[in-house]
Amino acid sequence: MSEVVSMRIEGSIALITIANPPVNALSQAVRQGLWDAVTQAETNPQVQAMVILGDGRAFIAGADIKEFGKPPQQPHLPDLCTRIEASIKPVIAAMHGVSLGGGLEVALGCHYRIATATAKVGLPEVNLGLIPGAGATQRLPRLVGTEAGIDLMVSGRPVDAAKALEMGIVDEIGDADPRANGLALAHAVLDENRGPRAVSALPAPAAIDWDAKYDAVLNKGRGQISPAQVVRAVQAASELPFAQGLKREREIFLELMQSDQRQGMIHAFFGERAVATQPDLKGIEARGFDHIGVIGGGTMGAGIATAALLAGLSVTVLEMTHEASDAARGRVIGNLQGALKRGKISQAQFTKMTEEALTLSTDYAALAQVDMVIEAVFENMDVKKQVFAKLGEICKAGAVLATNTSYLDVNEIAAASGRAEDVIGLHFFSPAHVMKLLEIVVHDHTAKDVIATGFALGKRLGKVSVRAGVCDGFIGNRILAAYRAVSDHMVLDGASPFDIDRAVTDFGFPMGPFAMTDLAGLDIAWAARKRRRVAGLPEGARDATYADKLCEAGQLGQKAGKGFYTYEAGKRGGTPNPAVMDFVSQDRAEQGLTPRGFTQDEIIDRYMAAMVNEAARIVDEGIAQRPVDVDMVMLFGYGFPRYHGGPLKWADLQGLDKILARIETYAKENPQYWEPAPLLVKLVAEGRRFADLNG
Ligand code: 3HC
Ligand code: NAI
Repeated sequence: MSEVVSMRIEGSIALITIANPPVNALSQAVRQGLWDAVTQAETNPQVQAMVILGDGRAFIAGADIKEFGKPPQQPHLPDLCTRIEASIKPVIAAMHGVSLGGGLEVALGCHYRIATATAKVGLPEVNLGLIPGAGATQRLPRLVGTEAGIDLMVSGRPVDAAKALEMGIVDEIGDADPRANGLALAHAVLDENRGPRAVSALPAPAAIDWDAKYDAVLNKGRGQISPAQVVRAVQAASELPFAQGLKREREIFLELMQSDQRQGMIHAFFGERAVATQPDLKGIEARGFDHIGVIGGGTMGAGIATAALLAGLSVTVLEMTHEASDAARGRVIGNLQGALKRGKISQAQFTKMTEEALTLSTDYAALAQVDMVIEAVFENMDVKKQVFAKLGEICKAGAVLATNTSYLDVNEIAAASGRAEDVIGLHFFSPAHVMKLLEIVVHDHTAKDVIATGFALGKRLGKVSVRAGVCDGFIGNRILAAYRAVSDHMVLDGASPFDIDRAVTDFGFPMGPFAMTDLAGLDIAWAARKRRRVAGLPEGARDATYADKLCEAGQLGQKAGKGFYTYEAGKRGGTPNPAVMDFVSQDRAEQGLTPRGFTQDEIIDRYMAAMVNEAARIVDEGIAQRPVDVDMVMLFGYGFPRYHGGPLKWADLQGLDKILARIETYAKENPQYWEPAPLLVKLVAEGRRFADLNG
């Protein structure tokens, strides 16, 4: 037998165990091992039934993602599932932990399925830009019906054992361990003489309006193709004999395997994990952080406090006045009520969090014993410096002092504390208890164990943490400033903000830059523009004032009911605000500009080129450690479409020479803004890609 699959015969039952840590992915060796084990068990006269189970924490987490993109090796997974199903002796899947993707497909190839109560099953292939490729699109709808089958595969979300039982995916829930569960079901099958039972022999799933379903799914996926292709594969299950349906599924699967979207999604899967890898922190222990102080209980402070409470930490929020403190408590409780309503926490947890774990104060003495403080006061250097000077005086030795500043110089803030080594930037995104991104901003003197503590906190809060260096806006907001600037340029030259938002949402973002500004409030960017103008714009830099005019008119975005769009209470989204184009026309007239037309493609070419060019500088300067770090910031903080993988993965897929050529063309009209990033020029000259720098 193979190293990763073993077989033991207990009485008349063959126990076939997969041991391929950490999650029993179906590598070639596992597929071959299973094939051989089933064949041996089938020919062994002592064996009357087989049980397949996984060692360790899972049954099987799916195909081995590391093999994707390489030439497929035999035995292919669909053939293995068919082989198992064709066994003349009953085969039982004894599932625990996760059975995902190909893992569930192996189970569906088995004749009976039993799961532990804590097991989860699902088909997350769409999250990798694929459809299930080993029979699930054909077998699952035969078992659970057309709509339920499509829903499970299109959502990609796993269901728990109880739900799987209700849907008919598993036959039983066992209350023992997988081995005992499997043996019990195997004996029952033999005792009752139930014999092998092939899912493929069940009647084909019912027909629905396939085209309507396809269009609906495509629409909802914002341009992601794999979920819609699930519909076509299930259509084949309904319309074709099983073997032909399986063939059709394989064709679609292999087509998607070649797609850029699949590459983007897999880049995101591994990128999400890769950003946590910090070679210089190996062996460095994080400091403790059971009790956290949050200064400022506004939008961000309340969100950060909520995230910490949800992760089981104790939190003390410091505000300036009793009124502000009451308002802060109200915000945190409101957030937690949302979590309660959505079933994320129980009533008992809610009560514990609000009555025991959360305290509010207006006195710095309340922070003397906390392990970590996260500051989220107004974005003003003088205020931040005062706060950090105070923290330096009162906090216990070793407490981590963090700032949530969006743009300000963390070196300067750290110096004010008198203990710079304890200071770090922890840049959360709004709403902080929902958004997955955390930028961990490391300044010149941050101690290594403080960086490690930032990552440990991020992990505890369920965030994707990305390390960043100090500059105006760190990774994400600096790139945001670049594509906001190019959007302004395009508006001055003739595109409308609404054209740009449409092009950007068609590219796959949930929102365009102007709708996004409405959501955040126009005043934030207004303040940043004023700050930059005071500091002095670089020579030759273009400036736009139409948004200032909106701000001066009090049209500050959603909170004012009006910004780039006009919002009506109770209605989602807005309609273009007619005042915007008047302000834009004024701005163009003042600058003596004659507007021209922009196609969607040109808008995206410029928007993305701006993003890639700035991102290349950020990598070159060491503000981001690797290209993949930039990609994950944009994916998890800025709604960059996951299926494009991030701006630098997207750039690799487009071809860096093509992007550089565009930038060089644009530079002829605006050399100041469009100076090609040296790293981009270098990579093109050397025929390399950003991926080569990911290590
Ligand atoms: N193939 C290869 N490696 C995998 C893997 C897979 N399918 N699933 C997880 N891993 C690796 C991870 O990369 C990670 O490696 P590392 O320790 O070197 O970083 C390790 O296993 C542990 O994974 P996590 O850190 O994610 O551990 P968690 O406990 O948080 O999550 C999990 C475990 C739920 C299994 C999660 O890893 C997951 O969702 N994996 C992907 C599952 C999936 O998408 N399966 C479908 C594959 S496609 C398919 O089956 C096609 C078929 O239809 C033909
Ligand atoms: P906010 O105005 O909603 O909240 C600030 C809070 O701090 C107020 O409740 C105020 O009473 C309190 N405060 C001010 N000075 C204080 C002091 N000296 N001591 C105690 N409390 C004090 O502001 P918001 O949006 O929460 O921003 C806070 C910080 O987070 C800023 O640095 C901002 O740049 C940053 N940030 C904001 C994001 C956003 O989307 N709003 C996203 C990421 C970071």
